[in-house]
Amino acid sequence: MSRKMKNKVIANLRIERIAAEGKCVAHHEGKVVFVQNTAPGDLVDVRINRGKSSFMEGEAIRFHEYSKDRIEPFCSHFGTCGGCKWQHINYDLQKNYKRQQVVDQFERIAKVEIPEVFPILGSAKTQYYRNKLDYTFSNNRWLTREEINSGEQFERNALGFHIPKMFDKIIDVDHCYLQGNISNEVRIALRDFARAENLSFYDIRNQVGLLRNLIIRTTSTGESMVIVQFGEENSENIEKVMRFLNEKFPQITSLLYIINLKKNETFNDLDVITFSGKDFIEEEMEGLNFRIGPKSFYQTNSEQAYELYKVAREFADLQGDEVVFDLYTGTGTIANFVAKNAKMVIGIEYVEAAIEDAKLNAKVNSIENTQFYAGDLKDILTEDFVRNHPKPDVVITDPPRAGMHEDVVKMLLKLEAPKIVYVSCNPATQARDVAWLSEKYSVDKIQPVDMFPQTYHVENVVRLTLKP
Ligand SMILES: C[S@@+](CC[C@H](N)C(=O)[O-])C[C@H]1O[C@@H](n2cnc3c(N)ncnc32)[C@H](O)[C@@H]1O
Repeated sequence: MSRKMKNKVIANLRIERIAAEGKCVAHHEGKVVFVQNTAPGDLVDVRINRGKSSFMEGEAIRFHEYSKDRIEPFCSHFGTCGGCKWQHINYDLQKNYKRQQVVDQFERIAKVEIPEVFPILGSAKTQYYRNKLDYTFSNNRWLTREEINSGEQFERNALGFHIPKMFDKIIDVDHCYLQGNISNEVRIALRDFARAENLSFYDIRNQVGLLRNLIIRTTSTGESMVIVQFGEENSENIEKVMRFLNEKFPQITSLLYIINLKKNETFNDLDVITFSGKDFIEEEMEGLNFRIGPKSFYQTNSEQAYELYKVAREFADLQGDEVVFDLYTGTGTIANFVAKNAKMVIGIEYVEAAIEDAKLNAKVNSIENTQFYAGDLKDILTEDFVRNHPKPDVVITDPPRAGMHEDVVKMLLKLEAPKIVYVSCNPATQARDVAWLSEKYSVDKIQPVDMFPQTYHVENVVRLTLKP
């Protein structure tokens, strides 16, 4: 951007609406201005920190009027933590904005005829709805401006979340409203114990330190999995930490740890060691049990996942004699969920461990009409595969944020299944894929579902039917 624009302050901008990815939008001299930390209706002065020929980005530095739709955020970390960025907007409006995002993306990107988008299905829980949180240890706690200005010395060991866009700065979380059950107690107890015992918190820049990461997973059945990642192979201290957790929280049903000496925190390629309890937890849905291992994906809002799957099942409208393809099946949850309504379900997913879980989940639930295949969808769903398997009557697809690979879309166009139920966590890529599919399909139902209250994220289910 030009030097002239950088740090320029634009006075009295009225925030008009929320666009994709939760960005608040205003206009200045015909240009779009995206403004952080505001709400539609605010009147603000904005300092510009980024600009392109068609838009500018900035932050509000003075509020002249607050939107009448603002509410008091409930969390003391609001504004610093990247977690629940929409706490200042009441939940009904959050839902409206999310639904509007779906409408906007389909109008802007898909440019196909769509029916009226259904009102969004809200989440019964707007706090404590997550079943999994990932906390990071750091010896470099984020200090607020007031703390820095005070000149005092502060405890720098922290356990909490990354500051958005700062990989090495961690907020020490007092209380997190995202996960209930024992999540807050375990985090605080472990942090305090580690500080008292002088155990080292991870130095993210230099990649040293004992305590690296803490993952807590919970289920609606009351089970919990706690995984501690250690950045050093110090068996005495590891034993000390794990024994502490085991004694202090006997209700943890799966207590695990990982020694991770790699540069990143991913652990799909590492051994997970069981310190006590089982090496999985179990979630229940409509009488089905789903085993969740430390490496397994499971939708993070369990109650709302059930609502989402019910929408997918209703859109699939199965009569019992259909062949269903469940693409991007993860641990086969949707496949196993709809299996009793279909003749046969074929699930495809590239994480091999997830496919093993999917098979196990079918077995645990005595489901015999599912088949699962591991591999990249574009490599598995080939002409050969199609020739050797029954033709699908319904395709359910639930890709990651990037949407479907073009080759997968091309194959779906060749397959010509009468119905496609497209579940997505990113309406922009979904709209792009729907535009491609519109060569042969029309959209007849659109149902947004809110899985993540207090954030801009929206899940969306679209039903496509083959044109005559
Ligand atoms: C949004 S999740 C859906 C999971 C599942 N439907 C559920 O509800 O639990 C997307 C899944 O797609 C898988 N995936 C991502 N890219 C893939 C690819 N190219 N081929 C196959 N699977 C892929 C991911 O591993 C993940 O499990």
